[in-house]
Amino acid sequence: MPRVLTGITPSGTLHIGNYFGAMRPAIELQAGGDECGSLGGDAFYFIADYHSMTVITDPAERRAYTRGIALDWLACGLDPAKAVFWRQSDIPEVCELTWMLGSLTPMGLLERAHSYKDKTAKGLDANFGLFAYPVLMAADILLFDTNVVPVGKDQKQHLEMTRDIAIKFNLTYGETFVIPEERISESVAVIPGLDGQKMSKSYGNTIEIFGEEKALRKKIMGIVMDSRTPQEPKPDADRNLAVQLLKLFAPADVAADYENRLRAGGLGYGDLKKGLFEHYWNYFAPYRAKRAELAANPDYVDQVLRDGAARARAVAEKTLARARKNCGLR
Ligand code: ADP
Ligand code: TRP
Repeated sequence: MPRVLTGITPSGTLHIGNYFGAMRPAIELQAGGDECGSLGGDAFYFIADYHSMTVITDPAERRAYTRGIALDWLACGLDPAKAVFWRQSDIPEVCELTWMLGSLTPMGLLERAHSYKDKTAKGLDANFGLFAYPVLMAADILLFDTNVVPVGKDQKQHLEMTRDIAIKFNLTYGETFVIPEERISESVAVIPGLDGQKMSKSYGNTIEIFGEEKALRKKIMGIVMDSRTPQEPKPDADRNLAVQLLKLFAPADVAADYENRLRAGGLGYGDLKKGLFEHYWNYFAPYRAKRAELAANPDYVDQVLRDGAARARAVAEKTLARARKNCGLR
């Protein structure tokens, strides 16, 4: 059975890009179903709190986001009976592996990383952690003998780097690591944000999965449209942001009806956005109820993460021992 692994960084509140790009495919794979193929999963999912250290420095904030993401995953359907679920920092072996891998990773490879180039271009201070981030991510993946990694398109390059690093290690020290592959579902590879750019926690353009109704309604009603009147036909209706988002939440025939009415003329942008909000809000309603239940039971969530860490660690220790032996460490 292929091993499936993915992680999400607790550096903000999760949004529908995270949900459709990573969480939903991962949750489908845990159940053995798969919208992008026909894999049955041996599922390993984690909260990447070491990764959050390049983004946030407030310990209370890190704890709160970590807790929030644990609730989000469990509320959205991660089933601890089917998937191993843990906090990255409960498995410090990943840091040792990062060093081993980093010692074989060319500077040029890291210098080409989009994530590093984008973040420094946006004015974020460059530091070693940000630069070495793809190596930590490679360690996350290789430590668990991962075959398949469900992610959004923005992570494609990181998976290519992971493969390069694993191949180099295997060539240098003998067969040690499984070579993993990304799983990117084309229809949800890049979910657009409120401004039409890729939705991202760091761009302030998100629609959260869970949040306060009034604020979310305001965000959606605030999506900027052009100044054409409701009556004007809109031949570019398929490129309308609200139509694109509606397709994620509404049944196909309902979304098509909105799109056709917009194309023909007669549907105002206000009504379109209202429809989008209603479908979005209803889509997550059952998960919202589950999340409230879980939030009232912190001991259960702690127990899930502790059990997950113990199971994940057993795998990590074996892989690390193999890597240490192959490269001549004690
Ligand atoms: P963010 O960019 O908001 O910080 P992360 O980098 O933590 O999100 O991403 C966690 C997972 O969610 C990754 O698999 C990533 O590819 C996926 N993801 C994030 N944003 C999007 C998006 N807009 N569309 C599709 N997938 C996304
Ligand atoms: N880098 C990923 C992101 O920002 C999160 C992540 C860390 C990850 N380690 C991973 C995803 C391992 C998949 C596999 O989205």
